[in-house]
Amino acid sequence: MTAKIIAVVNQKGGAGKTTTSMQLAGTIARRGYKVMVVDADPQGSATRWAASAEDASPFPASVVGLSAANEKVHREVKKFIEDYDFIIIDCPPAADSPVPQSALIIADLALVPILPSPLDMWAAVGIKQVIEHCSTVNETLQARLMLNQTQANTTLSQESAEVLSEFGIPLAKTQISQRQIYRQSAAFGVTVHDLPKASAAIKEIESLVDEVFAVLGIRKGKKR
Ligand SMILES: Nc1ncnc2c1ncn2[C@@H]1O[C@H](COP(=O)(O)OP(=O)(O)OP(=O)(O)O)[C@@H](O)[C@H]1O
Ligand SMILES: [Mg+2]
Repeated sequence: MTAKIIAVVNQKGGAGKTTTSMQLAGTIARRGYKVMVVDADPQGSATRWAASAEDASPFPASVVGLSAANEKVHREVKKFIEDYDFIIIDCPPAADSPVPQSALIIADLALVPILPSPLDMWAAVGIKQVIEHCSTVNETLQARLMLNQTQANTTLSQESAEVLSEFGIPLAKTQISQRQIYRQSAAFGVTVHDLPKASAAIKEIESLVDEVFAVLGIRKGKKR
């Protein structure tokens, strides 16, 4: 096996990189794939997320802390590439770190969660440039923007989707809504699947995984 690598990146902090990384990783693992999360952020949020799981039901993907590798993170990740079906790299904000550039050298997909606010959309120009720069070396790199923390039927979410559709990086059809359950997932070290009253959130996350699989050319459904 050779892992498909997804780098979750953005210029700014707080856009939902760790939330997206962990929900994606856990959901793909639940479909029977072997998944590793690379915690490339010195804050260690992905590591803490997984550590918050109960011993009896560990987080379904393994989490490895590689933030110390800095701009050489791509070399460290390569060492695991034959051992996993998917490697998801949770990056620190690109404005503060060389890690995203390094991750994008080996990624198959750059996934960019973005909040539906003008400030966040302006800042996204920065990550677009990083992605374009890395594409000159990594010619098969694909990229998707993904709206996170949307609120149903607000004009801001709708306008954001319209603006981003012309941004130059395709916008994922799936949007992740603002929901308390995404915060609870981190507290309990799980994906939304393990929490009560989760059906709407599960639907979003499963749809995101379907979309990611389509971009990466992977057949839908379970591996085993
Ligand atoms: N869809 C959502 N609904 C509700 N809360 C969310 C959602 N996505 C993220 N959050 C919350 O927003 C905050 C920032 O999210 P997260 O930590 O995933 O972002 P990040 O991009 O990884 O941040 P950093 O740049 O600090 O690593 C967290 O408190 C998280 O629980
Ligand atoms: Mg984070």
